Amino acid sequence: MRHATIIGWGAYTPPAVLSNADLETVIDTNDEWITSRSGIKERRISHVSNAEMATAASRQALAAAGLDATDIDLIIVATCSPDRALPSVAAYVQRELGGIGATMDLNAACSGFVYGLSVADGMIAAGTASRALVIGAERLSSYLDLTDRTTAVLFGDGAGAVVVEATEESHGLLASNLHSDGSLTEILTIRGGGTENAFDETIPLTVAMEGREIFRHAVTKMGEGAATAIAAAGLEVDDIDVLISHQANIRIIDATAKRLKVKPEKVYTNIHAYGNTSAASIPIALSEALDQGVIEPGDLVAFVAFGGGLTWGASVVRWGDRATRIATADHGLPGTDKTGLELLSERTQGLGV
Ligand code: ACO
Repeated sequence: MRHATIIGWGAYTPPAVLSNADLETVIDTNDEWITSRSGIKERRISHVSNAEMATAASRQALAAAGLDATDIDLIIVATCSPDRALPSVAAYVQRELGGIGATMDLNAACSGFVYGLSVADGMIAAGTASRALVIGAERLSSYLDLTDRTTAVLFGDGAGAVVVEATEESHGLLASNLHSDGSLTEILTIRGGGTENAFDETIPLTVAMEGREIFRHAVTKMGEGAATAIAAAGLEVDDIDVLISHQANIRIIDATAKRLKVKPEKVYTNIHAYGNTSAASIPIALSEALDQGVIEPGDLVAFVAFGGGLTWGASVVRWGDRATRIATADHGLPGTDKTGLELLSERTQGLGV
């Protein structure tokens, strides 16, 4: 049956680092608390837009696949931090790369990449697309509230992308499931920025979250989602070679793996370096895992995520016969002389940094 298989991958992680020590200078926090509660040591703060990061990751993914943008007939950007309400980040990516295929953004918060992969797979199966860029890109540093130490230490910026194409072979996306519990909308939200509060400047444009509640739901729902996807693919948990979870908190990742009974050495993590980059975290981790040789041809890889909504989902992929890039590409973006703290200060001036 016609379905999607991943043939290219890439990531863009901005060069400006914001360490836990940097945060200690502006927030009542410390490295020991952040590391022990979340596993995060540092994160990146972008000096460019969401669309520029998404484009940079896409250039790498296209090169890895040996394709041009004109070969792509669908671009999906999973994001909850778009540059503008209109048009989509995906449209800007296409403006930079070229092509006339379909473009759309998809907001399933941190589950966005898993959702995007499934949507691309469905469109490929239906014959409405043949080759797609599925991108996760976020600039959550724009939504940080430095007066709220429970959220400000968690998030970072970045983008990851994959190219998928139609295949009738036995590799590719084997199974996926997507869920949401709309009764939990208020436990993770950014209340400003939408039309609901468009003219009310008292409504903050910052992340508001009930951390403990999210933690509790995340562990059960990611465990269930991954187990369901693995079973739907006709596999046992032991068959999975690499588990790539949304990088939200190392304790959530560890607890999910334990619940699933996946051996720790099969779990790929990079949260220490980037924090929670929401929809970008899985494609960034996937790209790094491939470049480090962690994933080999024929491997079974499981993705699992949760995020605002509350959304969650999982998918299982059998890797194809190539786990190396056909070519590499320059990300095409300027560097920055600014530190992560300087960049963050510019966008949180109202908070007295
Ligand atoms: N530095 C130091 N102390 C802190 C900090 C901080 N940054 N933040 C909170 N504390 C304090 C609290 O004030 C509290 O102090 P108290 O006991 O004197 O009242 C204490 O630490 C414990 O706080 P808790 O909130 O109970 O800490 P918890 O162990 O639950 O960890 C955390 C908090 C890390 C936020 C955890 O709940 C978590 O990771 N939850 C999931 C969050 C998540 O993944 N969100 C992203 C969702 S994905 C998406 O869609 C964007």
